[in-house]
Amino acid sequence: MQTIRAAVVGVGHLGKEHARILAGIPGVQLVGVVDPNPDQAKAIADKHATQPFTDFRQLLDKVDAVSIAAPTIHHARIAKEFLARGIHALVEKPLTPTVAEADMLVDLAAKHRSVFQVGHIERFNPAFEELERRPLQPKLIRAQRIGPFTGRSTDIGVVLDLMIHDLDLLLALVKSPVASVEALGMTVFGGHEDIANARLRFENGCVADLTASRASPTIARTMQLWGPEGFADVDFAKRTVTLVQPSESVRSNGLDPTKLDKESRTKLRDELFTKHLEMTTVDGQAKDQLTAELSHFADCIRDGSTPRVSGADGRDTVAVAQRILHAIRDHAWNGLGAGPQGAHNLPLPRGPLFQSRAEAA
Ligand SMILES: NC(=O)c1ccc[n+]([C@@H]2O[C@H](COP(=O)([O-])OP(=O)(O)OC[C@H]3O[C@@H](n4cnc5c(N)ncnc54)[C@H](O)[C@@H]3O)[C@@H](O)[C@H]2O)c1
Repeated sequence: MQTIRAAVVGVGHLGKEHARILAGIPGVQLVGVVDPNPDQAKAIADKHATQPFTDFRQLLDKVDAVSIAAPTIHHARIAKEFLARGIHALVEKPLTPTVAEADMLVDLAAKHRSVFQVGHIERFNPAFEELERRPLQPKLIRAQRIGPFTGRSTDIGVVLDLMIHDLDLLLALVKSPVASVEALGMTVFGGHEDIANARLRFENGCVADLTASRASPTIARTMQLWGPEGFADVDFAKRTVTLVQPSESVRSNGLDPTKLDKESRTKLRDELFTKHLEMTTVDGQAKDQLTAELSHFADCIRDGSTPRVSGADGRDTVAVAQRILHAIRDHAWNGLGAGPQGAHNLPLPRGPLFQSRAEAA
């Protein structure tokens, strides 16, 4: 087995984990880590007995593969130098802020036959893998990804930062073009939208409603899916999937409560989740998703296969995210084109929220 000489560019919160894991993958040699902050580069390099660099260009002739975990606004500028030299690249999500940059990287990877993977890590979540094994064809999907402000990823808004995870999962599951997008968002910290809601309609009739917030006092990473086969409730943090399906008898004979007498209706309520609807919860294995993702990248390099999340997948997800951002920008808060629009321009408050309407009158 030929050794893969690898490096990590950007060793902050996430990149330092990339370095730790890559250093431990059999057949991978971590030849260096890059960070413009020299102390950070040295601290992470020392931990893994490798070389620190402050500029990624110092590594271009030293590596076969690179993992890029610098801030998103730098992804395209960095990745293009590696891909143009036939160096395999894993780029953290979101691939790039714009579709034009993503297209440029996809083209470069194809031209130079580089393995090109995007770090949509939830595809390696055991709960999602379990869901993918089930024959559910979702027609209605609800996704929530909310949590408190981390102070990171301020170069992008919550759509590209958090909602992008669920957009990638939706495209992988629904496998149909997005027909229409409605969305609104709000800025809390300034700069970009920090709270967003989007409703997507797919050409195959599926509808998805997504909420993302990085200004939430509570944390949730969940998705609910309804389809003819039943219902699935995924908790990405707990790595569980709860599945509810109609029983064999309901599937064969149907169930019409309007034809039941009072006693049978009471019985139906008591037996709903034992006799008529079957429910089971599947616990995903306790595996580390980032290790799975990076090991998969190394495997794809060795056998030349297309990664589970390819550059083209990352590009398509950015394209949908951009449609959502446009819809947020165009959202008319008062329903009028002439009124306030977009994430930064909420209408002025009409009074204190902590006062009841009666008190205010
Ligand atoms: N897959 C996931 O679940 C996930 C989770 C967190 C972050 N991310 C993504 O990873 C990337 C990094 O996020 P983070 O939270 O680790 O941010 P971070 O701010 O903690 O780390 C970024 C690091 O990159 C360095 N850096 C800045 N400019 C650079 C450049 N030009 N070249 C090389 N390094 C540079 C910074 O000094 C810092 O150490 C972002 O794209 C983010 O969206 C993905």
